[in-house]
Amino acid sequence: MIVLAIETSCDDTGIAIIKRESSGALKKLSSVLSSQDKIHSKWGGVYPFEAKREHQKNLIPSLYKALKDASLLIKEETTIPLSAEEALEKDPLLLKKVKSFFKKNRIKKIDAIAVTVGPGLEPCLYTGVNFAKALSLILKVPIIPVNHIKAHIFSFLYEKREVSFPALALVVSGGHTELILIKSFSSYELIGKTRDDAAGECFDKTARILGFSYPGGPQISIAANKFRPSNPFKINLPRPMIYSNNYDFSFSGLKTAVLYEFQKQKEKTRKDERYIVAMAKEIEDAIADVLVFKLKKAIKEFKIKTVILGGGVTANKKLREKTEALQKSFLNITIIIPPPSLSTDNAEMIAAASFMEEKRGLDNITVSPNLKIYNNCDKVK
Ligand code: KG4
Ligand code: ZN
Repeated sequence: MIVLAIETSCDDTGIAIIKRESSGALKKLSSVLSSQDKIHSKWGGVYPFEAKREHQKNLIPSLYKALKDASLLIKEETTIPLSAEEALEKDPLLLKKVKSFFKKNRIKKIDAIAVTVGPGLEPCLYTGVNFAKALSLILKVPIIPVNHIKAHIFSFLYEKREVSFPALALVVSGGHTELILIKSFSSYELIGKTRDDAAGECFDKTARILGFSYPGGPQISIAANKFRPSNPFKINLPRPMIYSNNYDFSFSGLKTAVLYEFQKQKEKTRKDERYIVAMAKEIEDAIADVLVFKLKKAIKEFKIKTVILGGGVTANKKLREKTEALQKSFLNITIIIPPPSLSTDNAEMIAAASFMEEKRGLDNITVSPNLKIYNNCDKVK
């Protein structure tokens, strides 16, 4: 079975073509990712309609490259049904590109289209889903709707296919900070979440205070790695809610603490690279300390057998090291952390998750910007 996966939930346009072998192993035939970081860095965040326009521009070039890399293209015209044109009537720029692509190309063998339907930015999700609908009608194959958060969790399928339950997933990205108890692949329970900013959002906002461009998480990480014990600046930031009697998080206070700490320094100190490095290290430590403390507490309480990390923030080296160190205290648990390239948004993870979903017909595919994966949705505020 070969799946063509599409990811457009935020500011990365991803197309991946993945084959599931009869053994169940996943084989990457190709994967293309167009980042919009340069475009959004000038605003300090993602503008949904600008991101949508970029997806409209990037989807066809990414599709072309992915198919070419997977040797699935034939130079031959493909007739587009009217229904496929109708699926893209609200995306005229994309429709034009789709028409000119299929005038010269035919796609060889795809069994299904997987697409992110939520959670994410509504205009961006629509572009990906409409594109998936058009491709499904042109290729006469089903669509598999995929939950982006589930996809972050299922990134691990490229390395491991067996999971011992109960498992615990920590999903930390630009929009989410969630601890999810997984009792089986059809039972997801949210046990903790952020009450305000997500961990990635905290990285990005504090990075901005320090003068880094968007997205700031990777830059904080690079700066923090330059920290040496000889650094003269001693900074103590809070670890918000670390000892709270639950599994919730709060990161907006940390952002405020960083702002006050920065504002109280003289101009000369604020421009001192050693100060920025010390701040970056303390921010990274504060976020990783809180996340891993709660992870540890949940492992004990729920007698967890497998820990799975997912989401862009899990590309962070300190968080990875601290999580891996839990192995020393819990000898019998398995800790799964996907490589950094699969931690941040990509379409390979959408394909991986699609193999766990049912195929659906076109009529059932809807965009859900606030899609949840837990079964205890009614208890979640
Ligand atoms: O999962 P993702 O790519 O997109 C969302 O679904 O949000 O996560 C993006 C987030 C951004 O906030 C980014 O700053 C953060 O992940 N991030 C990092 C690192 N790499 C990406 N944060 C800390 N350290 C990193 N190395
Ligand atoms: Zn994500």
